[in-house]
Amino acid sequence: MTQVISIINLKGGVGKTTITVAVAEFLAVEHQKRVLVIDLDPQTNSTVALIGEEEWAKRNQNSQTLHALFKDHIDDTYTFEMEKSIVRKASNLRGGLENLHVLPSSLDFVKIQDRLINIWQTALIRPYDVLKNAVKSHLDDYDYVLIDCPPNLGIVTQNGLNISHWYLIPTIPDHLSTYGIPQIISSVKNFNRKKEGGEVKLLGVVASLYRSSVNRHNNTLDRLAAKVQSGELPRLFETRVPLASKAADATYYDVNGINTLKQKYGNSTENLYGSFQSLTEELLTYVQI
Ligand SMILES: Nc1ncnc2c1ncn2[C@@H]1O[C@H](COP(=O)(O)OP(=O)(O)O)[C@@H](O)[C@H]1O
Ligand SMILES: [Mg+2]
Repeated sequence: MTQVISIINLKGGVGKTTITVAVAEFLAVEHQKRVLVIDLDPQTNSTVALIGEEEWAKRNQNSQTLHALFKDHIDDTYTFEMEKSIVRKASNLRGGLENLHVLPSSLDFVKIQDRLINIWQTALIRPYDVLKNAVKSHLDDYDYVLIDCPPNLGIVTQNGLNISHWYLIPTIPDHLSTYGIPQIISSVKNFNRKKEGGEVKLLGVVASLYRSSVNRHNNTLDRLAAKVQSGELPRLFETRVPLASKAADATYYDVNGINTLKQKYGNSTENLYGSFQSLTEELLTYVQI
C-alpha cells in the first residue's frame, strides 16, 4: 500500500526540503520506487529544486499549483485540475525521472493564508480535507508520497497530515531546533482526534546539518536518544545528515548534465551521498509498502 510521509518541523532551515528532495530522488533512482513529492510550503523550495524556476513560473501562471486548488475552495472558482498539475518527470537528474512526480507549490500561497478558514463557508468541506479530496484517486499510482510541509501546524500542514500515515521530524541537533518537538507531537495528537482513516504516526527524528565536532550537537543527540529510551520518542534515525556544502548545490535546479546521485550529492569527506543513501535505506526498513 502507498505510504505517505509528511516532513515537519516548526522551525525553518532545519533541512526539511533538502531531505525531502534527496530521499525522493534516492527512492526513485536507487530503489526504483514510484514517488510523488507534494510541496505544501509557500516557500516553494522543493518545487523549484525539482522542476526549476522557469517551469514553475509557467505552471503558476496556468493555475497548476496547490495554491490554485486552495484558492478555488475559497473563491468558489474552478481553475485547478489535478491531472494537469502533477509534473510527471521531475528532478534534474538524467534530464528528469519518469518515476518521480511533483505537485507544485506557489509563492502566491502566502496571499491566501488568512482566508483558508473561509473554506468552511464557500466549499462546505472541512478546510483540512481539500488536499485529500483532490489527490485521493491518484495516491495509488505511487509507492511513496513525501510531503514538504510549511514550518507551522496550520490548515495547510493539516491537509498534509490528513493524508499521511507517518510524519518525520528533521532537526538540527541543537537546543532551538529541538525545542518545538514536544509541541509538534502534542498538536499532531490533537489532530489525530479528528482525522479519519487511521492516525498519523511519528516515524522518528532525523538529525541534519550535523557536525560531529560540535559538543552541543552530540549532547543534543544524547538527550534525544534518552527520550527514545523513555518512550517519549519512537525513534532517532541512526543516520545523521552531515553539514555539507554540497547540500546547497543539490537544491539548485541545474539543467546541465547531472546524471548520477553521486555527482549531485558529492563524494566529499562529509559523505552527503552516503548519508542520504543510508537514510533512505533506513526509511525503507521502517516504512514498507
Ligand atoms: N546537510 C546540509 N548541509 C549544509 N547545508 C544544508 C544541509 N541541509 C540543508 N542545508 C541548507 O540549509 C538551508 C535550509 O535547508 P532547507 O532544506 O531548505 O530547510 P527547511 O526546508 O527546513 O527550511 C538551505 O540553504 C540548505 O541549502
Ligand atoms: Mg523548506
